[in-house]
Order: sequence, then C-alpha cells, then structure tokens
Amino acid sequence: MLKKENQNSQANNYIIENFSEHHLDDVMEIEIHANPTPWSKHIFEKILEQRSLSFVIILNSQIVGFCIANKVLDECHLQNISVLEAMRRQGVGNFMLDILKKRMSLSGISTILLEVRRSNKIAQDFYRENGFQELSIRKDYYQTKNGREDAIIMCLKGL
Ligand SMILES: CC(C)(COP(=O)(O)OP(=O)(O)OC[C@H]1O[C@@H](n2cnc3c(N)ncnc32)[C@H](O)[C@@H]1OP(=O)(O)O)[C@@H](O)C(=O)NCCC(=O)NCCS
Repeated sequence: MLKKENQNSQANNYIIENFSEHHLDDVMEIEIHANPTPWSKHIFEKILEQRSLSFVIILNSQIVGFCIANKVLDECHLQNISVLEAMRRQGVGNFMLDILKKRMSLSGISTILLEVRRSNKIAQDFYRENGFQELSIRKDYYQTKNGREDAIIMCLKGL
C-alpha cells in the first residue's frame, strides 16, 4: 500500500514527451544496458519517421523510460519498452503502459500486441501482471549472442 502511494506521488513528477530526435542519445543509453542485442540508432531513427504512439518519461531532467509503439491498422504494436536500470521496480513501467493505453484510446485502438524473448522472464511477469496473455510462439525470432531464441507473442485485448 505504502509502495503504491510512493509510486503515485513520484508519478506526479514525471514529464511525458513524444519521442523525438533530441531524445535519441539518452534512449540509446538505456537500450544498450537493457537489450542483449540492442537496437541501432538507425532503427530508432526509422521509428521517428513513422506515425507513432511513442514517448519518453522524464524525471528531474533525465529520461527514465521509453515506450516505442506504433499503430498498425486497428492494433497497437508495442515494439520496445524500457526503464533505466536504477529506476526499475518503482512503477515506471506500469505508468508507461497506462499512458500508452490512454494514447491508444484517443486513437480508437483497444488491442496491444508484442513479442518478448523467451528468456526475458521479468518482462513476461510484467506483461502478465498487466493483463497480457500469451498468444503464440514465433520460433527463433530473436538473435542472441550465440544463436537464436523464440519470441512469445503476447496480447492485451479490450482496453
Ligand atoms: C520490463 C520493465 C520495462 C518493467 O519496468 P518497471 O518499471 O521495472 O516495472 P514496474 O515497477 O512498473 O513493475 C510492475 C509489475 O511488473 C512485475 N515486475 C516488474 N519487474 C519485475 C521483476 N524484476 N521480477 C518480477 N516481477 C516484476 C511486478 O508484478 C511489478 O509489480 P510490483 O513491483 O508491485 O510487484 C523493466 O524491467 C525493463 O526495462 N526491462 C529491460 C527492458 C525489457 O526487457 N523490456 C521489455 C522488452 S519486451
């Protein structure tokens, strides 16, 4: 209960900004420490060119999390979500999903689809905690340092 209250009062200090060019370096810095095969700057630049639901969260002038999501027909494809390592388990991830859902409802979308590495149990717990369900497996979808690994496709319907 106390944890939830602390998270809510911290959330009052978050600034939400649409993902844009000047966030790239800080977002890359989080990505490098969060992803075993980090996205290149070029991929993020491509994202910037698309019609996007993406945003960053800023606390005390520092980017503490980002959410990269696109509208694909009548669904939202959540491509990447990440929290600065020192800020994890403090509700930033939940906060970003809430913001994404609000943005989706403004765009008339009610379904989120995503892929997550089979080995990324923390992210799977995080998504399940937020109501996502496993839909299917995409074999050998991801590159790893020494091979390939499956993606689990997860879905949240009817926001
Ligand atoms: C997944 C991630 C975004 C979650 O962000 P976060 O800000 O730490 O998550 P929250 O603090 O909002 O956690 C919400 C709930 O998710 C679950 N959860 C989050 N981290 C967890 C962990 N390390 N172990 C188990 N459950 C966890 C818990 O149920 C948690 O609620 P609780 O803290 O009240 O128990 C974050 O761990 C991260 O950036 N990971 C690296 C990048 C990544 O893997 N992204 C997903 C790519 S598909």
